[in-house]
Amino acid sequence: MSLRTIPISLTINGEKIGPIEVPEGLMMIDFLHEYANLTGTKLGCGQGVCHACAVILDKEDGSSATVRSCITGVGFFANRSIRTVEGHAKAGGEGAAPPMSPVQQAFLEHYSFQCGYCTPGFVNAATVLIERLQREPIERSRVEQVVTDSLNEHICRCTGYVRYHSAVRDLILATPGLTRENADAS
Ligand code: FES
Ligand code: FES
Repeated sequence: MSLRTIPISLTINGEKIGPIEVPEGLMMIDFLHEYANLTGTKLGCGQGVCHACAVILDKEDGSSATVRSCITGVGFFANRSIRTVEGHAKAGGEGAAPPMSPVQQAFLEHYSFQCGYCTPGFVNAATVLIERLQREPIERSRVEQVVTDSLNEHICRCTGYVRYHSAVRDLILATPGLTRENADAS
């Protein structure tokens, strides 16, 4: 019996990849690890529960969303554009540490993670939230709840939830354009 394959082309972190022949039922996380040599996306539960494996899908309308790569076949991403955790820090010069994204920097400054296994998923979820607020700022009074809603499904076995939450909240409140004054503020 021969394995059925499909040709896949997509853009990852701004780089066009493919066409590559891959097994038809291949999950995206296995494509990233085995075909794209990108191992930063982590496999946790493998069942769509923990969100450790979340990657960012850049949609044609300019918005972004997270997608769980452990339960989403690579075919879903054909001819689409995604970002993984490897795409956030910009490449530095030789020997230089690459500048991190604002979300990564906030997590570092807040000591948000311990083992770091869940961090790629949190980075991607927080980045999607920031990008949504750039398009649709919210009242400052709603920030706590919106951050909770955005990170709620991400599981951290080292229980870093509070520091992840405060890092994203503080970043949002300190970044111009993401929030507006409450409607009832005088
Ligand atoms: S590893 Fe994908 S949701 Fe847990
Ligand atoms: S920092 Fe270890 S699982 Fe979250």
